[in-house]
Amino acid sequence: MSQKISSALAHPNIAFIKYWGNANPSLRLPSNGSISMNLEGLETVTSLSSSTQQDTHTLTINDVVQESDKSSRIAEYLEKIRTLYPFEGFLTIRSRNNFPISAGIASSASAFAALALALNDFLALGLSEPEISALARLGSGSASRSIPGGYVQWEPGNDHQSSFAASIASPTHWQLFDIILAVTLEEKKISSTRGHQHADTSPYQSVRVHDTPRRLNICRQAIIDKDFEKLAWIIEQDSDMMHAVMLTSDPPIVYWQPASLSIMQTVRELRKNGVACAYTLDAGPNVHIICPPSSKDAVLDFFSEYPGIQEIYIAKTGGAAHIIPS
Ligand code: PMV
Repeated sequence: MSQKISSALAHPNIAFIKYWGNANPSLRLPSNGSISMNLEGLETVTSLSSSTQQDTHTLTINDVVQESDKSSRIAEYLEKIRTLYPFEGFLTIRSRNNFPISAGIASSASAFAALALALNDFLALGLSEPEISALARLGSGSASRSIPGGYVQWEPGNDHQSSFAASIASPTHWQLFDIILAVTLEEKKISSTRGHQHADTSPYQSVRVHDTPRRLNICRQAIIDKDFEKLAWIIEQDSDMMHAVMLTSDPPIVYWQPASLSIMQTVRELRKNGVACAYTLDAGPNVHIICPPSSKDAVLDFFSEYPGIQEIYIAKTGGAAHIIPS
């Protein structure tokens, strides 16, 4: 009998309204709701199989067997899944990424989304999209948003079942680009998992959390109305608010680098001069420039020779995670 293999593909996502801080860290129930866009062009493909010969789960990323932090995080995740949906034995996980890991492009989002979807298939769990989104959330909060397609909103919920993400609009509703200017390709020194734990040490976090419904409403409406000016204003404000919390945490977390700040200022100047574009930064120094198709070439031309940029990645509004043939 041939061995069963399940494979799934998921895109990372870029948050327009950020998730930062957990109300329940072990369930990864967020302190606030968030909105993101999936990123087509960037992807994680994960395959699952099992063997009776092994006594641990094994993880391979881009053909390299992982023996440290990443494999223990996955093992911990799988043991959590085992308590919810009992299964026998140990799994072999093979993952491929076509973009750098842990550099402010949400690789853990696409990784846990692909894994959750592959698990649903491999273990024949028969879960619905909201249930798979909740399953992905247990590995990495933002992974819940990489399960549905297009523009996605994650409601915090108050228990495992009620905390999942759902699509607000499809990729065809509004095609936007995310031009990612990588100012470093190194893995970030402070993981978002650790960062979330410090969020409440900032006096600004409660203000940020309290204000979230306002930002979510503006962002959601801007997406529905395809109003780029409104979207630009709110995503920059939201990104700055999250980084203000990070900068004022104890100990402070400084993800920005001089090049990040210089790019942010330049994006605002470009917009003033009529080029529709806006910046947003996750937990890393790399700058995501969101723009409509009409200004993509102008943004790319402008930043192609810009000092301090190591690499440029281009993604556009992407679809849902899906099962692929193994
Ligand atoms: O899902 P995590 O634990 O990697 O946290 C993601 C945090 C941010 O990327 C900074 C914001 C977000 O909403 O994606």
